[in-house]
Amino acid sequence: MANLLEMHNITKKFGDVVALNNISISLEMGEILSLCGENGSGKSTLMKVLCGIYPHGDFQGEITFAGEKLVAKNIKDTESKGISIIHQELTLVKQMSVLENMFLGNEITQFGITNDNEMYLRCQTLLEQVQLNVDPHTKVAELGLGQQQLVEIAKALNKQVRLLILDEPTASLTEKETAILLNLIKDLKAHNIACIYISHKLNEVKAISDKICVIRDGEHIGTHLATDLSEDNIITMMVGREITSLYPVEPHEIGEEILRVENLNAWHTTNTHIKRVDNAHFALHKGEILGVAGLVGSGRTEMAQCLFGSYLGKYQGDIYLENQKVEIKNCTQAIERHIVMVPEDRKKHGIVPIMSVGKNITLAALPQFCFGKKVINEPLEETIINQSIAKLKVKTASVDLAIGRLSGGNQQKAILAKCLLLNPKILILDEPTRGIDVGAKYEIYKLINQLAQQGIAIIVISSELPEVLGISDRVLVMHQGKIKADLINDNLTQEQVMEAALKETL
Ligand SMILES: Nc1ncnc2c1ncn2[C@@H]1O[C@H](COP(=O)(O)OP(=O)(O)OP(=O)(O)O)[C@@H](O)[C@H]1O
Ligand SMILES: [Mg+2]
Repeated sequence: MANLLEMHNITKKFGDVVALNNISISLEMGEILSLCGENGSGKSTLMKVLCGIYPHGDFQGEITFAGEKLVAKNIKDTESKGISIIHQELTLVKQMSVLENMFLGNEITQFGITNDNEMYLRCQTLLEQVQLNVDPHTKVAELGLGQQQLVEIAKALNKQVRLLILDEPTASLTEKETAILLNLIKDLKAHNIACIYISHKLNEVKAISDKICVIRDGEHIGTHLATDLSEDNIITMMVGREITSLYPVEPHEIGEEILRVENLNAWHTTNTHIKRVDNAHFALHKGEILGVAGLVGSGRTEMAQCLFGSYLGKYQGDIYLENQKVEIKNCTQAIERHIVMVPEDRKKHGIVPIMSVGKNITLAALPQFCFGKKVINEPLEETIINQSIAKLKVKTASVDLAIGRLSGGNQQKAILAKCLLLNPKILILDEPTRGIDVGAKYEIYKLINQLAQQGIAIIVISSELPEVLGISDRVLVMHQGKIKADLINDNLTQEQVMEAALKETL
């Protein structure tokens, strides 16, 4: 069978940085190829070359698609040939409805007038195809990240797609949504639609791919049949060495109580009779790593937001810091009390994309580097930035690069660096390793352990149960806003946690 796609000897530089060095990949019709590699290895860049975001002439090498040389000036050119990309960071217009997003720039018209009825029906069909049960008129802002991802996919299906590129599509999806998506990709394959799949979740990669291609530092390491590679093989190819343990074991001492939460309740922002957090009680100790497990929507993020003063709806409860009752009405008050949170949705809450990596890191802690009130001590700021970047191993060509240009995982590390500058006593991490590669995950776990050794109390919310069990001293299990169990992690199993989530009462 002739190849659908050939990318031949692709080299792409950003200034002096060689992001891709002579990479070749090929794909047959209806084939699923996964791209694996550490953060910053060049996966997204290779896909941006393929779909014309970096136009012909902006890179070296050749691309052939469906038997023709592909010379694209922009993404419209490749879309018209049947290549659709769904980016790592979603690009829907939040203020617009699902329907408006679906047909943006692609409206169905009749005699020059948009045919609203036709678009509504088509939108409904597409939403059914991705099993997303929302009204086409719903505003995108009201949807969760996972649901937005499904809208993006529905949007791609609306175009005559022959090759679908998914750049980390499941990073923010629930297990159920992920299963829907993987089935969808298999369905598309049955209709001869090919797919390039990028994910750090190697179990998914194994399950879905025909072939797996690994790149490291912009170099092609190898492409093999999925059946010929184990997850360990993929990891070794990705990082260039064998990783023996996924979770570092560094003993840390658990000290006295630092935080106590009693009768915490939070109500839905619009549907105010619904509780998102329902009468939560728990304590946290110095040097303790407290995992919070539960399904997406179980109230974990909302509970954390109440502690950080960032919950948008009404909330109420008794919060004691070092046995003193406190009120935390906003993030400023939380930070003053050394409670710091790394949010889940980094694009919305975490970074200022057009500002430099360095400035993003120091942004929240600027008063620390000022002479008097207003003048920044620039040499000191620079030293701190460099120290932070080294400590968290943020991979960036320069501290002056706009942070929006860093690879997804490296943005996450920079946000963590920013939060650490606030000298937290209580650090709340919401999905801290989302979109982060295995090697960097290990580094982040190590850092969490080191912070605990220094006596910092840490709350880690994570949808990945193995991660919660791998790093926590104690685990809170949440379900439908309630804390269903508070378990010491003494070789806890996933089954025990799941069981606790679903049982009737504590
Ligand atoms: N516009 C840009 N300007 C400068 N450097 C860039 C730009 N885009 C990407 N890079 C650099 O190119 C390298 C590859 O980045 P890329 O986003 O392709 O990584 P990735 O493999 O997708 O990583 P992740 O898994 O974190 O998403 C990184 O070092 C990144 O900082
Ligand atoms: Mg990427």
